[in-house]
Amino acid sequence: MSTAKLILDGQEYEMPVTVGSEGEVGIDIAKLRAHSRAITLDPGYGNTGSCESAITFIDGENGILRYRGYNIDELAEKASFVEVAYLMIYGELPTHAELDDFRHRLSQHTMLHEDMKKFYEGFPPSAHPMSVLSTMVASLSTYYPNSDDEEDIDLNIIRLLAKLKTIAAFSYKKSIGQPFVYPQNHLDFVADFLHMMFAVPTEPYELSETVHEALDMLLILHADHEQNCSTSTVRMVGSSGADLFSTISAGVSALSGPLHGGANMAVIRMLKGIRDDGGDYDKYIAKAKDKNDPFRLMGFGHRVYKNFDPRARLIKDAADRVLARLGHSDPLLDIAKHLERIALEDEYFVERKLYPNLDFYSGIVYRAMGLPTNMFTVLFAMGRLPGWIAQWKEMRDQKSRIHRPRQIYTGYTERSYVPLDER
Ligand code: ACO
Repeated sequence: MSTAKLILDGQEYEMPVTVGSEGEVGIDIAKLRAHSRAITLDPGYGNTGSCESAITFIDGENGILRYRGYNIDELAEKASFVEVAYLMIYGELPTHAELDDFRHRLSQHTMLHEDMKKFYEGFPPSAHPMSVLSTMVASLSTYYPNSDDEEDIDLNIIRLLAKLKTIAAFSYKKSIGQPFVYPQNHLDFVADFLHMMFAVPTEPYELSETVHEALDMLLILHADHEQNCSTSTVRMVGSSGADLFSTISAGVSALSGPLHGGANMAVIRMLKGIRDDGGDYDKYIAKAKDKNDPFRLMGFGHRVYKNFDPRARLIKDAADRVLARLGHSDPLLDIAKHLERIALEDEYFVERKLYPNLDFYSGIVYRAMGLPTNMFTVLFAMGRLPGWIAQWKEMRDQKSRIHRPRQIYTGYTERSYVPLDER
């Protein structure tokens, strides 16, 4: 299979076919408009490949997710988040020496410029941590200028990876009115973040191994997911030549929406709503199925997974484990499991292949860790950062053209200007 044919107005056009390493087939329409004046129309891009990529493979029909060829289950069980970040960005698992060096470099760039702390004073106490995150990430470009030098680019990558968790923790501290806790470079990546989040000057902070382990795994599960909304945004913005920080800030903004990363917060709001409404599951299942009701079962459904989301299974297990080890119980977990059971047997959800996604159980784990709901999407962004960086780097290395889709115009045809007093 090397070409595809399209017949348009009786004229035949031949287009090359690209086959990926897992057998995925793409019809290359790059010359279609030049030859035929026609474009393809695919609102929501469900059938459009925007790039070739060697980072993440998803087989949504079979519930497979692999980073650089490694199965997500294996990475979640055996690797650390920092190791996975290295794998994402540099393409291979690090050796001992490479990992030590990477960790050391990350530990040397954790502090924010002192002036950046003043930005936090300007945000209202009610500021959403995702808005603070995207603003602060964009502001890094004012401190660390853009450069085409590969060493400078790599340094900015390290800076961003190291500082994002400091920015995130500071925005949490600001939101609860506690003093900022500075990074501690002797702590590992996840321990340092938890320390900045939960330590206070008045008493020693004791790290919970259970929380540490669970957060490390959650970050791995979020590390990349091929060309989703925020990642495509990163590639889109980056294709203009915008600097790394501005580009990633755009990705953070895209992630914040409730149909994307913001869904983890929406799930908790929904579960609380069901609890407060007396736990009437059937009512909410009926609402989700009613086309005249805007309500959707948050944390259900996925553009790509039509079998199960492998990350959801791992997170569900983690939720059980974390709650048991911390000796917590969470009525929201029981509601979630109940809802899942009903939905998975309901014809509407079965027919549409709507399964719990990554966000359905992640909020329960975050709650057990003591994290407030409005920080959930920030944690998603922390996990997704290596993926965004890897995709940005790949896009640059591919010398990608500026991304610029076309459209089918459906507005007025030409008409004459009507003077103001005649309208
Ligand atoms: N509850 C009820 N019905 C749903 C749901 C849901 N959660 N999700 C999809 N459907 C229905 C749609 O109404 C549609 O029905 P129809 O064919 O009768 O019109 C059908 O299933 C297909 O749904 P689409 O919206 O076309 O699917 P799409 O791929 O565009 O959207 C999305 C995927 C955004 C994830 C959607 O399933 C959704 O809104 N889910 C809830 C929000 C959510 O959990 N988002 C997190 C996604 S994962 C992530 O970003 C990490």
